[in-house]
Amino acid sequence: MAPLTLLLLCQVALYTIVTSKKACGRPPLSDGIDVSSLKSVYDVGEEVTLACEQGYTPSTPSPHKLACTPTQEWTATDLACTRRTCPIPRPLQDLVPGRTQVPFKTVLNYTCDEGYVMTGANESTCLADGTWSHPPPLCKAVSCALPKPPRDGRFVLDKAHTATSTMYGQGWTYECTPPKAPSFERGECLADGTATEPPVCRDISCPIPEGIPNGFLAFAVMRTHGYKGTVRYACNDHYVLDGQAENRCTNTGNWSTKPVCRGCPRPVLTPHVEALGLQLLSPPGTEAHLTCAPGYTTQSGVGVIICSVRGTWGRTEFVCQPKMCPAIDTPPNAEMHFEDNLYQSRVNFTCNEGYNLHGASSVVCQENAEWSASSPECKVVTCGPPPIPDNARIVKPKSRMYLLWNLDSSTHVSNGNLPQSRTHRSWSHVLPHHEQLQGHHQIWLHGRLHPFW
Ligand SMILES: *[C@@H]1O[C@H](CO)[C@@H](O)[C@H](O)[C@H]1NC(C)=O
Ligand SMILES: *[C@@H]1O[C@H](CO)[C@@H](O)[C@H](O)[C@H]1NC(C)=O
Ligand SMILES: *[C@@H]1O[C@H](CO)[C@@H](O)[C@H](O)[C@H]1NC(C)=O
Ligand SMILES: *[C@@H]1O[C@H](CO)[C@@H](O)[C@H](O)[C@H]1NC(C)=O
Repeated sequence: MAPLTLLLLCQVALYTIVTSKKACGRPPLSDGIDVSSLKSVYDVGEEVTLACEQGYTPSTPSPHKLACTPTQEWTATDLACTRRTCPIPRPLQDLVPGRTQVPFKTVLNYTCDEGYVMTGANESTCLADGTWSHPPPLCKAVSCALPKPPRDGRFVLDKAHTATSTMYGQGWTYECTPPKAPSFERGECLADGTATEPPVCRDISCPIPEGIPNGFLAFAVMRTHGYKGTVRYACNDHYVLDGQAENRCTNTGNWSTKPVCRGCPRPVLTPHVEALGLQLLSPPGTEAHLTCAPGYTTQSGVGVIICSVRGTWGRTEFVCQPKMCPAIDTPPNAEMHFEDNLYQSRVNFTCNEGYNLHGASSVVCQENAEWSASSPECKVVTCGPPPIPDNARIVKPKSRMYLLWNLDSSTHVSNGNLPQSRTHRSWSHVLPHHEQLQGHHQIWLHGRLHPFW
């Protein structure tokens, strides 16, 4: 136990000695300050001069001296070090929009696009003094030897020049001595520095030119054509030509792509929808305004369809429904026969028995959503007194429905002297059964006429 206690005591004594000596630690540092010459402990009163690391620039040029004060603190310093930067070389500025500088130690790797070769260094580093280690390299187009002409032909450079070589990207056209055609027409200087091998000159012919739908050959000789022979197409009235009017016999013995005649025939519309003022055929771009047929109406708002370049009309949701006439109340003593009250519907009226119809027996719902006439009236039939045959008289004009006739038993009843029932203002026969007549003094005539008068 005793030796351990002693050891602890010794340590405490040691610390007391060290801390009692007045001193400062490392001065406070910020990014970019050179630490290589700094110690970890400084005596009170000792001074240190701070400087920026290589590649960093001090905020102020004056020397930055700090002292370790008796309170063991460093005097203040306003030194700040900022990294040196290099300007981005001009050819690369577009690649990094919004930046013009890159920091010290940045490495740029240069490469050239395909078909270009580099002269100069492919790498450049931003140095501590704010300059680049190497200037940007140059990228020069690969060069090719002049193309070889085909046998029986020649080449024509796109850009006439007198040099003995061509450069990457340059092209030329091959031509053969007529009437031969080159197996292909174009050549170019390739990225690997080789020029296209020349084509073969050969005989070709294009077939007799053909017509086109909705158009015709405006200028053509109807025979096979040689290389570069031309024909012209035109469209029928109202069609619009899409493509090249002139068609050329190509080096493969095919005609170039024929033009197309485009236009929209009259649109096929849903029932009762109409497109006004359209020709039999409309050129692409035509706007057709849709309306409803007379007697029809729409809730779809404005309807417009446009003739597309493909020669088809656009789709539309425009719908027309029949107009609706106001509802009709059944007139008194009448019956109505109808299905609905939409445009072109008919309402038939009939009067109950004993009533005559005054007015239209039938009305129709018209284009303007009104009925063709007002409802009719059913008026009681009035006949006046029936003709009374000889030997007969009215016994009882009972209720308003029946009549009793009292006939003398000796009366000879025949068709001719019987009373007649009446409909529509003319009396008609109502014959009792013959058996009933015999031996009866009263005859019940049952012509169901009511009311009678
Ligand atoms: C630049 O090239 C060096 C070596 O050639 C390579 O280590 C580095 O990754 C390249 N940097 C970029 C951004 O390509
Ligand atoms: C840069 O050029 C050197 C030779 O000069 C080559 O070794 C290196 O691969 C090249 N770097 C790139 C990224 O092309
Ligand atoms: C051109 O014609 C050849 C036959 O002569 C045929 O094989 C080829 O497909 C045609 N090319 C075109 C673009 O029509
Ligand atoms: C109305 O009368 C006409 C002609 O008599 C007939 O064709 C039609 O079916 C009738 N309509 C109705 C709803 O009864």
